Amino acid sequence: MSAPEQWAEVDRYFIDSLVKEDPALAATRESSGETLFPGIDVAPNMGAFLGLLVQLTGAKRILEIGTLAGYSAIWMARAAGSDAQITTCELEATNAKVAQENFEHAGVADRVQIRRGPAAETLQQLIAEQPEPFDLVFIDADKRSNPTYLKSAVSLSRPGTAILIDNTVRQGQVVQADSENPDVLGTRQLIADIAADGRLTGTALQTVGLKGWDGFTLVRVS
Ligand SMILES: C[S@@+](CC[C@H](N)C(=O)[O-])C[C@H]1O[C@@H](n2cnc3c(N)ncnc32)[C@H](O)[C@@H]1O
Repeated sequence: MSAPEQWAEVDRYFIDSLVKEDPALAATRESSGETLFPGIDVAPNMGAFLGLLVQLTGAKRILEIGTLAGYSAIWMARAAGSDAQITTCELEATNAKVAQENFEHAGVADRVQIRRGPAAETLQQLIAEQPEPFDLVFIDADKRSNPTYLKSAVSLSRPGTAILIDNTVRQGQVVQADSENPDVLGTRQLIADIAADGRLTGTALQTVGLKGWDGFTLVRVS
């Protein structure tokens, strides 16, 4: 068995043992096939991790950048409870339509709002609206824009806000300083921006599993 096959088998073991995915969540994951980007949602054990993070931080106001079919948003919305507010940003109308149906089916449409359009613009609109700060931000869209998203997320934060950025390892490509891949460059700039900002404390972890070799970066705003 190859290493990636072993990683996937171990993920399946943990998912089968620990992750409670009800029919609505399973249907949402499957419905990513109806979006423009099938299968790029988080794995079930990462969804459960997001739910735990929401509950451990007590997050009620949650901002997500990158909705797809709504899989990660449903995990967070359910964990946050019926008095929570989740704002999720999505560029593509096709994806937003699939996600809205999934939010209704999963019983969280009352607390999840999709803001459609380029997230960089949506975030500027949000900042102009001067909302209450978000407790938790999950950044999971076009990776080249991660520095822009981080900056806006910090503007929408309070001391103690957690910001989680997914896919910051990219099969190890993140260490390729001479890369010309915009997604790698965006991720490297993100890491440099976190390191340079005295308000931010961050760390990054590599992961292997059903989604191959990747990882995430977690930041606390002070
Ligand atoms: C990795 S998927 C999100 C997966 C989702 N968080 C989940 O785990 O269920 C990335 C999403 O970001 C969206 N996206 C890409 N570029 C965007 C942009 N500039 N503004 C807003 N959304 C964007 C894509 O259409 C896609 O639906």
